[in-house]
Amino acid sequence: MTNSEIVEETIIFVKETLKNAEGGHDWFHIERVFNNTMLIAKEEDVNLLVVSLGALLHDIADAKFNDGDESLGPKMAENFLLSLKVPKRTINHVTNIIKYSSFKAGLNDGKMKKKLFTSKELQVVQDADRLDAIGAIGIARAFNYGGFKNRALYDPSIPPNLEMSKEEYKKSKAPTLNHFYEKLLLLKDKMNTATGKRLAQQRHQYMIDFLEQFYQEWSPLKNLS
Ligand code: ADP
Ligand code: NI
Repeated sequence: MTNSEIVEETIIFVKETLKNAEGGHDWFHIERVFNNTMLIAKEEDVNLLVVSLGALLHDIADAKFNDGDESLGPKMAENFLLSLKVPKRTINHVTNIIKYSSFKAGLNDGKMKKKLFTSKELQVVQDADRLDAIGAIGIARAFNYGGFKNRALYDPSIPPNLEMSKEEYKKSKAPTLNHFYEKLLLLKDKMNTATGKRLAQQRHQYMIDFLEQFYQEWSPLKNLS
């Protein structure tokens, strides 16, 4: 099988697997991450098959929707790629990208366990995935996820809390606006590549402008006094 046939087969597999996925984690998320990956990869010296497969398979079985099971995604990807007779070395790299590209792994840098794996290919996919969490799309995805979890849009009496544990967070019913301060606004400083940084800066500013407008609309009398 040629590399482009492998990518084509993977696209079919991912579309089928994600056909009932929640709106922020559906095939279109994967397609956007794939496109961001191609854009960033143009400027980087990376293995194109590895970044393509990493982007396509990175959310194949998100732990959030699978009882926190983090091994399911890499396992599914491995089995699938084995069925296409993709070389073992490539499969290993791709499953490592799936394991280590998640926000949690990235955001807990330093605090949690030391990173066990990194590569230029991982950095490219991670940037591509992070870009899809910020800017206009990022805003849309956050509110979609909040709706899925039945969270309030905003609640001035619940301030953002950067120290909350995952368990506390689940119980807290934190409003979606808090997510901007707890995660989305922090992402631009976590970008790995030059292209990723440049695109993130523009999307970051868009979120800042959005928040400003949001507060103005929330309290229209505030600046009239
Ligand atoms: P990905 O699966 O793309 O690596 P995540 O699973 O962490 O990233 O999050 C997926 C999307 O859901 C992102 O756009 C993220 O901002 C959003 N999201 C995750 N947790 C929350 C939350 N508590 N409130 C609002 N949006 C969230
Ligand atoms: Ni993703």
